Amino acid sequence: MNTDEPVPAPEAGVRTSVDGAVATVLLDRPEVRNAQNPAMWAAIADFLESLTDEVRVVVVRGAGGTFSAGLDLALVDPREANTPGSLVETLARSDEEVIDLIGEYQRPFVALADPRFISIAVVEGYAIGAGFQMALGCDLRIMAEDAWVCMKEPALGLVPDLAGTKPLVAAVGYARALEICATARKVGAHEAERIGLAQSVVPAADLDSTLEGLVGSLTAHDATAVRRTHELLAGASARSLDEQRLAERTAQVGQLRAVLRG
Ligand code: CAA
Repeated sequence: MNTDEPVPAPEAGVRTSVDGAVATVLLDRPEVRNAQNPAMWAAIADFLESLTDEVRVVVVRGAGGTFSAGLDLALVDPREANTPGSLVETLARSDEEVIDLIGEYQRPFVALADPRFISIAVVEGYAIGAGFQMALGCDLRIMAEDAWVCMKEPALGLVPDLAGTKPLVAAVGYARALEICATARKVGAHEAERIGLAQSVVPAADLDSTLEGLVGSLTAHDATAVRRTHELLAGASARSLDEQRLAERTAQVGQLRAVLRG
């Protein structure tokens, strides 16, 4: 598809809003279980990249009781060759162009990890393939107790390519990540919580109140201290101990001065 011509968020199947410190991204194509496409990814990326520092939390959820059934399978249907973003249209390009295009598709998945805010996926129903990867792109995941996630890509002859492999390994470790991906099995909410994929699992009826409580706790403390701490933790695995210690004390100088100033 031509990513130079952004589709407005609602037409792309996304509803976005900002209410004080909280921004919300609602995947809103319930008739196809919030299946994702390139227009949706561009709209989400544009929204996230436009957020100001007033926003401290980004909530991602799906309409109609499900998070997302993953890639819109119409795009891989050879009969849908004229659909923008279809596989047939995409593969008419060179390998290098396809690699660049997928890089563009990865934008919202990367933007969700921006340490300026804490992103929370609220997973109801299921999060499959690109849906699971979008939940993985978020810092935290709350799941309904009957919800499940699935890295379906290998079962379709594909690899997970929407920036989901790194957070999956970080959350559950290499061996469990490999087992989940290679088998493409469903992982239920309680297992997800036990292995570190979900931070909370509650009855579906309690998702909203759980989210409200979490957002309240995440925004209760000094915004800069939380943001700097988020940056330290998010970058920790890529730094040596000495680099991490330097990053900690460098961040602390500014915080100490701010505390003294009151
Ligand atoms: N793309 C397009 N349409 C989809 C869809 C998808 N991924 N998932 C569901 N739909 C559509 C169905 O075709 C159906 O449409 P109709 O009403 O016109 O028939 C409608 O949504 C409702 O679907 P179901 O009746 O199947 O609903 P369900 O609640 O019984 O089951 C489901 C839901 C388990 C998600 C099942 O629909 C399903 O397995 N969908 C396919 C999931 C999938 O394989 N996704 C791709 C993952 S791989 C990926 O995402 C690739 C990548 O990142 C690179």
